[in-house]
Amino acid sequence: TFTDTEKAAIVSILGKVSGNVNALGAEALERLFLGFPQTKTYFNHFDLSHGSTDLQTHGGKVLGALVEAAKHLDNLEGSLSKLSDLHAYNLRVDPGNFKLLSHSILVVLASHFSADFDATTHAALDKFIAVVSHVLTSKYR
Ligand code: HEM
Repeated sequence: TFTDTEKAAIVSILGKVSGNVNALGAEALERLFLGFPQTKTYFNHFDLSHGSTDLQTHGGKVLGALVEAAKHLDNLEGSLSKLSDLHAYNLRVDPGNFKLLSHSILVVLASHFSADFDATTHAALDKFIAVVSHVLTSKYR
């Protein structure tokens, strides 16, 4: 569960993300694939070159899901249930990869919203993405 301070920080940053999910999401994926090349194995069917439509579209889906999740901070399990089924039963992404993506997303947010990214906001966002990741990896067995 989140404190009121954490909720305010999460809602504020994700509100700023919402207008630009494709570009910010593509950057997060690009950082993921460059920094941690082993994560590319899940995306053989994508064009992973810089600025590709695949990166924009998929990045938009991932950050769009976070924007949507930020509207349901009191019920993340329920609101992410379908996405959790997908990652656990269909995709079977190794849970360790969620930490790597979380890191990449945090770096993107820190670099684009540096004025907002004080330590409190950093910690709140880290917690938010960790809770989302936990929900998406909780049905594996
Ligand atoms: C698909 C969100 C973590 C691999 C998706 C979709 C969303 C999403 C919204 C599209 C679902 C649909 O089309 O209905 C997230 C979120 C994550 C996360 C919010 C964590 C914060 C990961 C990680 C990996 C991964 C860590 C692997 C490194 C995939 C793959 C697909 C997918 C392979 C299917 C892509 C396609 O073929 O279109 N994810 N995801 N996800 N995700 Fe995740």
